Order: sequence, then C-alpha cells, then structure tokens
Amino acid sequence: MTDEVTTRREGSSLVVTINRESRRNALNESVAASIVAALDAAESGPAIRVVILTGAGDKAFCAGGDLKPNADGTPFTIEVSDPRHYVAQLLRRMDSCRLPLVARVNGHALGGGFGLVCACDLVVAREDALLGVTEVRVGLFPMMILPYLLRVLPYRRLTELCLTGETIAAGAPEAAAVVNYAVPAADLDAKTDWLVSRIADKSPTGIRLGKQALGKIREMSTDAALEYAQFMLANMARTEDAREGFAAFAEKRPPAWTGR
Ligand code: COA
Repeated sequence: MTDEVTTRREGSSLVVTINRESRRNALNESVAASIVAALDAAESGPAIRVVILTGAGDKAFCAGGDLKPNADGTPFTIEVSDPRHYVAQLLRRMDSCRLPLVARVNGHALGGGFGLVCACDLVVAREDALLGVTEVRVGLFPMMILPYLLRVLPYRRLTELCLTGETIAAGAPEAAAVVNYAVPAADLDAKTDWLVSRIADKSPTGIRLGKQALGKIREMSTDAALEYAQFMLANMARTEDAREGFAAFAEKRPPAWTGR
C-alpha cells in the first residue's frame, strides 16, 4: 500500500480511497496496484463484507488515466504485448472480487474513472458529479474499459458518450443506468451506509457464490447458463449458510451466518 491509496475499516466495510487529490485522483500504476492489494486484503478473511471505492476530496472520484506527460512527451505508454498491464490487472481483479464493490462517487468520474464506476457492482453518487469518457478530447478512445461500459449502458447512450466525449451529471435521467442512487453531496455517506447495511446482514456465502454466478452467466449462452446455474444452486443448497437460512426461516428467527 502507498499513500496514494488509503484503506480504513468502517464496521464490516473496507473503504479504499484514491488519495491523489492534487491530480484529481488520476489513475497510475501504483494506484492500480494498491487497489488490487486492498481487494486481496479484504478477501483474506471473513471480517470484511463490502468494499467501498472512493476518491479523496470533493472534486473528483477519479479523473481517469494520469495525463501528465512522460519523459518522451506522451501521456502514458502501453506495451502492446504486456499481458500484465496495470489497467487490465486492476479490472480483472475487480471482476474476480467476490465481495460487493460499491463506488462512492464523491466527485467527477471521467475516462478510466468512469470505467472504475462501471466495474463496481453498485454506485452511490453525488448528484452533481460528472460522468463520462472524455478520451476523444485527448486523441484516445476508452478502449480497455469498453467491456465494463457495455455491461452498464444502453448501446446508443454508450456510443454517444464515447463519440462526443461529453459528460452527464450523475443525477440526470441519462445516468439512471449507471447510478443506483444520486443524492445531494451532504447525503452521500448516509446513503452509502444505508445501502451497505442492506447487504451486510445477508448470507456471505450466498453473496460470494452469487457474484461468481453473475459474472459467469453474464458471458454465457442461455442454455449453458441454465446448466451452470443448476449446478451452482445444487451446491449452494448444501452450504452451511443455506442450511442455517432454511432453519432460521422454519424457526421464525434471524439467521446466524457462518459464511461457509
Ligand atoms: N491526469 C493528471 N493530472 C490531472 C488529471 C489527469 N487525468 N486530471 C486533472 N489533473 C490535474 C490537473 O492537471 C491540475 O494540475 P495542476 O494543478 O498541476 O495544473 C489538477 O489536477 C487540477 O485540475 P483542474 O482541471 O484544475 O481541476 P478541476 O477541479 O477544475 O477539474 C476535472 C477536474 C477532473 C474535471 C478536470 O481536471 C479534467 O477534465 N481532467 C481530465 C480528465 C480526462 O480527460 N480524463 C481522461 C483521461 S484519458
């Protein structure tokens, strides 16, 4: 962990904060590696139930890739054949995370920052935060985040955002597909806490295996998905959490989850 990303425990959540306010929390290799490390830590034991990703300050959630020129004058260089590129590593790690990822969008989310928002499972945003993929303004295109944008946005809206580089406010009707809750800045923490509390009392096993299934089924044909889902359901029904859930229902008491 570097001081460019900080983590703090809040109840059963791990809050991961991109801490580069002077660069509007722009993404670079060490930021990406630190978020990956934070997710590894969060998943290393049963204590953390939700990861909240946010940015420092009230200006930006994340202003995308770091645009400050390198020594050769380009904003950033990407080795075409490097399979370990940090953006791909970060996005893959977010995808494989079995804990719910909640984006707490404290300010603008542009370019790769918008990609991070789309790669999270749930989004609470201040209503005036601007969202968009501004890459065409600097001669690029939002390449590596496209799969994540495609999951979230209707195709025509996505194309318009990509081709114009224009932004939409999180509270605008056009952002409804991206944001679960858009609220006044003063309500951001209360709304995030409320959303997290509705997850944290549910079965850890149900959520862990459920996220696995969501990720796989999203990429499958309907026929393959039905087969896979039947196997998953049969296995889930044998878990301790499922047995406890059934027993608690029958005994009319709240369940005591073990997460196994
Ligand atoms: N990479 C590196 N530095 C960035 C950055 C980025 N993506 N975005 C902002 N910064 C830096 C600015 O260069 C500026 O640095 P300086 O104080 O040394 O001049 C500082 O952050 C503040 O930026 P500023 O534009 O003055 O802040 P703002 O609050 O008025 O606006 C944004 C915030 C995010 C709307 C604006 O900075 C912006 O549009 N950034 C570029 C976003 C972008 O195009 N991302 C796509 C990358 S492919």
